[in-house]
Amino acid sequence: MPLNIIIGTQWGDEGKGRVVDLLAGQADYVARYNGGDNAGHTVQVGKQTFKLHLIPSGVIQPHTVGVIGNGLVVNPAVLLQEVEMLRALDIEIGPKRLKISHAAHIITPAHLALDAAREQARGIGKIGTTLRGIGPAYNHKTERSGLRVEAMRDLENFAESLKAHVETINKQLTTLYNAEPLDAQAVTEEYVNYAHQLKPYISNVSILLSQALQHGENVLAEGAQGTLLDLDHGTYPYVTSSNPTAPGALVGLGLGVGHIGHVIGVTKSFQTRVGEGPFPTEVDGSTAGRLRGTGVNPWDEFGTTTGRPRRVGWLDIVLLRYALRVNGVTELTITKLDVLSGLDALKICVGYRAGDQVYADLPLGPTDLDYEPVYEELNGWREDIMSVRAWDDLPAAAQAYVEHIEALCGVPAKMISVGPEREQIIQR
Ligand code: GDP
Ligand code: IMO
Ligand code: MG
Repeated sequence: MPLNIIIGTQWGDEGKGRVVDLLAGQADYVARYNGGDNAGHTVQVGKQTFKLHLIPSGVIQPHTVGVIGNGLVVNPAVLLQEVEMLRALDIEIGPKRLKISHAAHIITPAHLALDAAREQARGIGKIGTTLRGIGPAYNHKTERSGLRVEAMRDLENFAESLKAHVETINKQLTTLYNAEPLDAQAVTEEYVNYAHQLKPYISNVSILLSQALQHGENVLAEGAQGTLLDLDHGTYPYVTSSNPTAPGALVGLGLGVGHIGHVIGVTKSFQTRVGEGPFPTEVDGSTAGRLRGTGVNPWDEFGTTTGRPRRVGWLDIVLLRYALRVNGVTELTITKLDVLSGLDALKICVGYRAGDQVYADLPLGPTDLDYEPVYEELNGWREDIMSVRAWDDLPAAAQAYVEHIEALCGVPAKMISVGPEREQIIQR
């Protein structure tokens, strides 16, 4: 059985969590490979709503084992809260059902304080991070001074390393950023307590998943964030600090290249972004209000992690084609088609114009997006499609919208979702 990888093709929040939950029905392992609790994956199952930040969305399916790969930065406080939250919703998560890579890195309160101090220091050039300490934790990883999960196995040394870590960052906070220092002793005690609790979950994820694949088991890799937030391939510097793109799944889980089956690119029917950075097809005014929603519906465009209103715009095929290329997407899942119902006309960006020149692909990659979008306009549809379950029952204009995306991208849209519930999906 192969490794199937689910990735976001835009700036995150494409609906990856709900797609992972659905496909986890056929998976043995569901593994997060990048990011940390900057992610917010909402899964709706009947009356229950699950909001997950660190634990893979696939654990809602009771037969799966959830895996947190070496590519993550893990805030133990958030992880333990999430285990409790799931328990309260009758999802039992113990060391048999959740494995945490020994080589993942730990986020501490010092990373959160640095994240906030750095954002403030950036002023108008701020990135608009989730303030979860993600960037500073990856900084320490690449600087080779990070704290890895495996350090929790030796509590005495862990306590010493933590104390030194907080004291070092305290110096930076006070001298570089004029910020308050943290109480190193209190942080150490708190984290030693977490280490006690998390020790039984620590595992060699690379061995676990490689053997599972060799034995014919099905592994689903759950990407967090999206292609355009990728550290290398996104809209740098307005990106996150990890690699959400599909190759990140191999590095972030310790797997070789021979296992990959499908790469499923989750694409929202329109474009959204939280935080700063370029967004060529962004709209404002009444169209933006219509795409974003008011917050009345649980799926309206407000951040799961930070509650910030998401910026919204028309679907950008230039960026989508780019995402398909850098991920090697084999099939698309198009989400939130229902949200477009009732709009008279729909725009799709099919090229970028600079002077007399029109580009069908990004001339210089997504860090240079200073172009005027070239739009095609398609007919909208009036019908509410949330109860549609078969392709043939979709209004002709909705079918034409999806088919046009497929034709422009050259990749089939095998699933189309028309609502957040498990059954609100059209399989083709
Ligand atoms: P993720 O970060 O990619 O997992 O996406 P989020 O969970 O942050 O945001 C997607 C939101 O849209 C969640 O509230 C989902 O329940 C919801 N959602 C997903 N697919 C659909 C859909 O097809 N229609 C509607 N109305 N909501 C959806
Ligand atoms: P999911 O998995 C949307 C954005 C932040 C900010 C930038 C850097 O739910 O799709 P960071 O805290 O990572 O240093 O912030 O990345 N960002 C996301 N936007 N969805 C996410 O995750 C995101 N995770 C980070 O808003 O612009
Ligand atoms: Mg999200």
